[in-house]
Amino acid sequence: MNSFTFYNPTKLIFGKDQLEQLTDLIPEYGSRVLLVYGGGSIKRNGLYDKVVTYLNKIDVEFTELSGVEPNPRISTVRKGVEICRQENVDFILAVGGGSVIDCTKAIAAGAKYEGDAWDLVIKKVIAEEAIPFGTVLTLAATGSEMNSGSVITNWETNEKYGWGSPVTFPKFSILDPENTFTVPKDQTIYGMVDMMTHVFEQYFHNADNTPLQDRMCESVLKTVIETAPKLLNDLENYELRETILYSGTIALNGMLQMGYRGDWASHNIEHAVSAVYDIPHAGGLAILFPNWMKHNLKVNPSRFAQLAKRVFNVNPAGKSNEEVGLEGIEKLREFWSSLGAPVTLKDYNIDDRKLEVMADKAMVNGEFGNFNPLKKEDVLSILRASL
Ligand code: NZQ
Ligand code: ZN
Repeated sequence: MNSFTFYNPTKLIFGKDQLEQLTDLIPEYGSRVLLVYGGGSIKRNGLYDKVVTYLNKIDVEFTELSGVEPNPRISTVRKGVEICRQENVDFILAVGGGSVIDCTKAIAAGAKYEGDAWDLVIKKVIAEEAIPFGTVLTLAATGSEMNSGSVITNWETNEKYGWGSPVTFPKFSILDPENTFTVPKDQTIYGMVDMMTHVFEQYFHNADNTPLQDRMCESVLKTVIETAPKLLNDLENYELRETILYSGTIALNGMLQMGYRGDWASHNIEHAVSAVYDIPHAGGLAILFPNWMKHNLKVNPSRFAQLAKRVFNVNPAGKSNEEVGLEGIEKLREFWSSLGAPVTLKDYNIDDRKLEVMADKAMVNGEFGNFNPLKKEDVLSILRASL
């Protein structure tokens, strides 16, 4: 293991009927609240009304920013920053999925930074201060509810980047499985694919002696694999939603990644793809990740073989580690496509015309990926295999 410091200050509030805690939590931080949400799912499923009822019970004034897009845009962040300045907002409440939470993080830090919030996203400056914010999560996927990361897109320049800082952890996050009952089947699939890829990104590293971390990663993967098909046949099953919701948080709240650095190359390539084509984040990952795996199988075949044996039950008898690893990758692909996840870029009508553009965007900061640093030629090869 490498030396490490673990820091995660988010208060996680998990379970049924926890929303009322807003009435105690918000006054700890402020009284002029900005409520941030997406395209209307929380109005359709009644969560908006419940949140507003609780806001009205406490002594706060609130304004709203609605319409945060999936793959949230810097233009929406700028709108939020403007509102915070005009209304002297001292607390932000995000109600939604990863996009709403990521947008809120950028608004919270952007409002305390005198320049343009895009400077934070491109890491021209590191956020040192942010308006405190909390979240009510409605979709199990990103882990944004309990990490400091945020991913923002700029449509003027076709760029999408992840950024974060120690000041962009939510103060609290309320996770009620019932708030995820209305997530449609496709988004439920994307969410489960996304959390699995977060585990893969962390599983492929170069540190020695990580037996507990490996087993923790494998547990999350096995739990999602076991639960996913059942949940897709029973979208309002509390226990299944509960298991997936908790898995998504654990997959990316830092718990799995102590003592090593994960790879994160596939996420970087996916961000370049969705910066050009605006496809769902996990749809892109379902296509790209198995091809990243095949591309890197030879870097450490025993690690791929371990995953294949322990998570995908591949029988290793008489096979090399590389053969076992490859069988595991095929099983992963089969599993995702059995859920209904996309398999090739053609599923999104993406052809080879902009491969160079996407590869250049992925390469903007030079070689990337901690397990095996990728050059442009590697990225192109993964993209070509994904067509
Ligand atoms: O906008 P509304 O109307 O709310 O609808 C959303 C949206 O259309 C809908 N939805 C959410 N909760 C729902 C619901 N529909 C019905 N019932 C509910 N309870 O689902 C759609 C997708 O929502 P979105 O927030 O975009 O999904 P997700 O949580 O997957 O977030 C994706 C974004 O997170 C970034 C991605 O790049 C992408 O921009 N990521 C953020 C990370 C982080 N902060 O740590 C890590 C991830 O790897 C990822 O990159
Ligand atoms: Zn992701």
